This record gives sequence, C-alpha cells and structure tokens, in this order.
Amino acid sequence: MTTDTLAVESVMQVIKTRRTVRDFTEQEIPDSVLSTVLDAAIWAPNHRMTEPWRFYVLKKGGEARQSIADLTHVWTLENTPNKNQAQSSADAVRNELLNSPALIYVYSLLGPSDEIAEENYSATSCAVQNLMLAAHAHGLGVGWSTGKPTRHPELGRVLGAESDSRIVGCLYIGYPTELPESRRLNVSDVTRWL
Ligand SMILES: Cc1cc2nc3c(=O)[nH]c(=O)nc-3n(C[C@H](O)[C@H](O)[C@H](O)COP(=O)(O)O)c2cc1C
Repeated sequence: MTTDTLAVESVMQVIKTRRTVRDFTEQEIPDSVLSTVLDAAIWAPNHRMTEPWRFYVLKKGGEARQSIADLTHVWTLENTPNKNQAQSSADAVRNELLNSPALIYVYSLLGPSDEIAEENYSATSCAVQNLMLAAHAHGLGVGWSTGKPTRHPELGRVLGAESDSRIVGCLYIGYPTELPESRRLNVSDVTRWL
C-alpha cells in the first residue's frame, strides 16, 4: 500500500478523534466486528516476538460476566474508604460490568525476567491502543479501566488467566451515546528537539 495523503489524513483523524467512552447505546456489537478489533490488537509491536497479550471476551448475560460483576461489587463494598458512598459505588460498577455491550479483559504475560515483563506490558498496552483505534474506526467507543473491575484477587482465576500474567485492563466497549471532549498539551510543551 502506498502512503498517500488521504491515508495519512485518515490515520491522523482516527487517532485524534478517538475518545475514552463509558456511555453506550444498547446496540449489540456483531462478533465479527469484535474479531476485527482483536485482530488489530495482535498486530502491535512486541520485542522478541513474545506476543504477550491475552484477551478474555465476556458475553453479556454470561456466567463469567455475572461472577466478575458480583466479585467487583463485593470488592468495592469492602474497599471504598467513604462508607456512605460504598453501596452506590458498588452498585454502579456492577451495573456497568453487566450492561456494557461488550467487555474484554486484557492480560499480559510476564515472562522470565523483569525486563521482559516490562517490555511485554508495553507491548500489550500498544495492543490495547490498536484495539481502541480499530474500534473507533468501526464507530465503537472503548473505556479502558484499571480501577475497581481489575482489583479482586480472584479475577484471574475466574477468567482462567495464566498464572504467569498480569492484568492490563478491563475494556468497556459499545456504540457511544456521544463522544466526550478531551484535551492535550501542545507538542512543543512535551518535546525537545536536540
Ligand atoms: C493505562 C490506562 C488506564 C486507565 N484507567 C482508567 C480508569 O481506571 N478509569 C477511567 O475512567 N479512565 C481510565 N483511563 C482513561 C483515561 O482517563 C483517558 O484516556 C484520559 O482521560 C484521556 O481521555 P481520552 O482517552 O478521551 O483522550 C485509563 C487510560 C489508560 C491509558
């Protein structure tokens, strides 16, 4: 494929208009579309070709989703410092987990050394970004959470995650009700040309 101006503009547009989304319509996502975005994920760069990413797709209405929503509910009740907010916060996260049109947990293999674990985590984060950009190109929004839905110690066991792996995030996916605003510093604020 040649890199023409149109392709460059399209890539830049997809990158810049992708937003973190947590409010979705009820529209279902075809499995074929989810497969396409997962296929984008696995083309991320990865040092030593470790292909360290592991994805767990949780069907809406499925047993695994219900178990994780319940575990997260319990975890939030027990770990919210402000006891007045614990119940509403626990109910909210359980509802979000149960109702998200698609839900994907992402893990990264650790490997034989700290150095490789860190490289693998970076590669898996690139995979998540690939997934989010491909999802956005399909009209989907993704919310990447490293918060409550990733905290229960039994999570990996319920998902069947490999023991030699660590969580990278919980991805809420759906068709957005709206695209939120975001902002960035200027490139010149974060770059030095030497
Ligand atoms: C590693 C990582 C973890 C994140 N975890 C959370 C999270 O737990 N909760 C949340 O609301 N957003 C989370 N986000 C999303 C960021 O808050 C979001 O990317 C940021 O606000 C910028 O918004 P934008 O993605 O729409 O540009 C996470 C993003 C990354 C990269």
